Amino acid sequence: MKIVVFGLGYVGMTAAACLSKQGHEVVGVDVSDEKIAIVNAGKSPITEPGLDELVARGVRKGLLSATKDASRHLDSCDMATVCVGTPSAPDGSHNMSYVVEVSHQIAGSIGRDRATPLIVVFRSTMRPGTIEELVLPIFENALRDRIDLVELVYNPEFLRESVAIQDFFNPPKIVIGTKGGEPCTALDELNARIDAPVFYTTYRAAEMTKFVDNTFHAVKVAFANEVGRVCDKLGISAATVHKIFTSDTKLNISPCYLRPGGAFGGSCLPKDVRALQYIASDVGAYTHLVDSVLRSNDAHKNFLFENCLKAVPAGGRALMLGLAFKENSDDLRESPNIDLARKFLQSNIHLSIYDPHVKPSKLLGQNLGYAFSSLPALRKLLVAKTTAESELFDLVVDTRGWAKNMALRTKWVIDVNTLS
Ligand SMILES: NC(=O)c1ccc[n+]([C@@H]2O[C@H](COP(=O)([O-])OP(=O)(O)OC[C@H]3O[C@@H](n4cnc5c(N)ncnc54)[C@H](O)[C@@H]3O)[C@@H](O)[C@H]2O)c1
Repeated sequence: MKIVVFGLGYVGMTAAACLSKQGHEVVGVDVSDEKIAIVNAGKSPITEPGLDELVARGVRKGLLSATKDASRHLDSCDMATVCVGTPSAPDGSHNMSYVVEVSHQIAGSIGRDRATPLIVVFRSTMRPGTIEELVLPIFENALRDRIDLVELVYNPEFLRESVAIQDFFNPPKIVIGTKGGEPCTALDELNARIDAPVFYTTYRAAEMTKFVDNTFHAVKVAFANEVGRVCDKLGISAATVHKIFTSDTKLNISPCYLRPGGAFGGSCLPKDVRALQYIASDVGAYTHLVDSVLRSNDAHKNFLFENCLKAVPAGGRALMLGLAFKENSDDLRESPNIDLARKFLQSNIHLSIYDPHVKPSKLLGQNLGYAFSSLPALRKLLVAKTTAESELFDLVVDTRGWAKNMALRTKWVIDVNTLS
């Protein structure tokens, strides 16, 4: 394939050199005369282990070159890859001017006599909606009724500097965003020798994956460091705690507790997060991330309730499926479903609750105390399955995934576990 790579920074230079190693003819494009001269002299303009050798090899074999002017190459190439920077703007958003500039440049250079569409692959990190709302209109304006001359793809890059070549050939995953989530044959061909799971999805979902990854990495680092600070202040070995923590791939380092859905609650998580906050402040460890966890959980409870309010007016009827903090349990302590029930009642919504595991006469100890202090009307609110299925509701809030197996009479069902 002949591939034009826009932006010879950490991502673009690595991609250009690695693609030339795979035998593709690669033309690198940058606005910097200095970078272009360095590449054409067979060196890498960025410091990255192994990259100088790959660039030297590519240039020597005539497979890699660099230029400022892409126009004479765009007509004859199969693919254009956009790796220009998206640095922070003063307000914290991404500065999209380089992406816009390159999009105009590519769109204006596509010949009308192309036999096959030009595949334009965007690899820069950009906010969800960028391809559809910023990039596509540029191509539509330039190509008018010949938009078929281009195929836009969003393919986020996951490489890490310092091991970029290794990551290019062994990425953790390949995410390919297209209009309707369909595969892109040319990219599949390009990635044929790379062993990694491939996900085809929409532009927006692909754009979002990169943000989710990077933010999660940042959260992990901050979390680990907060734990480290508390350990340090308490004279505990953070390394030992880290080793034990990461050895648990069943609950800790695993997909568990990472699915967007309901808020957390129960008798342990809120209590222990609060206690760690207390300990941290006691010893002066300043755990801002941990301090914000319960507030974040409250924000999520409000979000869920606001969604409910769209479906049920004041004076309307709602049915909740599930009240205890999890299925097959009658533990009501700090259940987020109790908070939701209270919000319904405060908003003058007639509420019924179906949870076969919660039997008021069998509640004991702390559980009993919590239930009746936070939801004194519990006994009256709980209904049997026959009632839940025979009465008409404006909304059913399903916290368990039971609705699909029940014969409910309702206008709306909100499934808390899938946020749908
Ligand atoms: N650096 C990383 O580890 C990494 C990893 C994954 C994704 N990303 C994302 O990839 C993108 C690129 O990151 P980077 O670190 O390689 O950036 P960078 O700043 O190192 O390189 C960007 C290059 O684009 C060039 N450029 C700017 N305008 C241009 C134009 N009109 N035409 C041609 N070239 C132009 C710049 O001169 C520069 O050489 C960013 O969106 C970044 O968030 C970076």
